Amino acid sequence: MEHLQVKDKTFVISIPEAKLQQEIRRVAAEITRDMNGKEPLFLPVLNGAFIFAADLLREVNIPCEVSFIKLASYQGTHSTGTIREVIGLAKDITDRHVVIVEDIIDSGLTMAHMIETLEKQNPASISVCSLLVKPDALKVQIPIHYRCMDIPNDFIVGFGLDYDGFGRNIRNIYTLKK
Ligand code: IMP
Ligand code: MG
Repeated sequence: MEHLQVKDKTFVISIPEAKLQQEIRRVAAEITRDMNGKEPLFLPVLNGAFIFAADLLREVNIPCEVSFIKLASYQGTHSTGTIREVIGLAKDITDRHVVIVEDIIDSGLTMAHMIETLEKQNPASISVCSLLVKPDALKVQIPIHYRCMDIPNDFIVGFGLDYDGFGRNIRNIYTLKK
């Protein structure tokens, strides 16, 4: 399937599932090597990272734990803008080696906020693992320890990523047609 229609938009295939799986295996091997003996706690960020996390974690060959987190936006009473809050962090991360698992890093603002929030809880270390990074879109400097692929600054869907809630279940990654 060369083209994909999601709601009102047309997308063109850009990264086949097999290529993603190959890069995921490479990154999983890096994590397995680096985190051996550290019993890492993986924190996949919902919703987008659920497919990536499922594939990545099955390739990680060391004892580890998983706990899902989500970012919620709400209107603060004294705030003019939107405040984002990390919800669902049920686990105590004190002295733990935390690996944040993200689908994509675009401006980097979400990840910067996530790191800042988690650091307050004194983990032993925080590593960032992202399936995709858009280097040309980055607005803030953040450490990205593990990444499967860099992509151009275009809108994509599939493999967990959505357009207006749809397209997450698509196996390959598709780019918005220009
Ligand atoms: P950031 O805070 O700008 O780095 O945005 C990160 C979040 O925006 C990701 O976790 C995604 O949920 C979403 N996002 C960024 N780029 C895309 C895209 O091309 N397609 C779908 N979602 C995206
Ligand atoms: Mg996301």
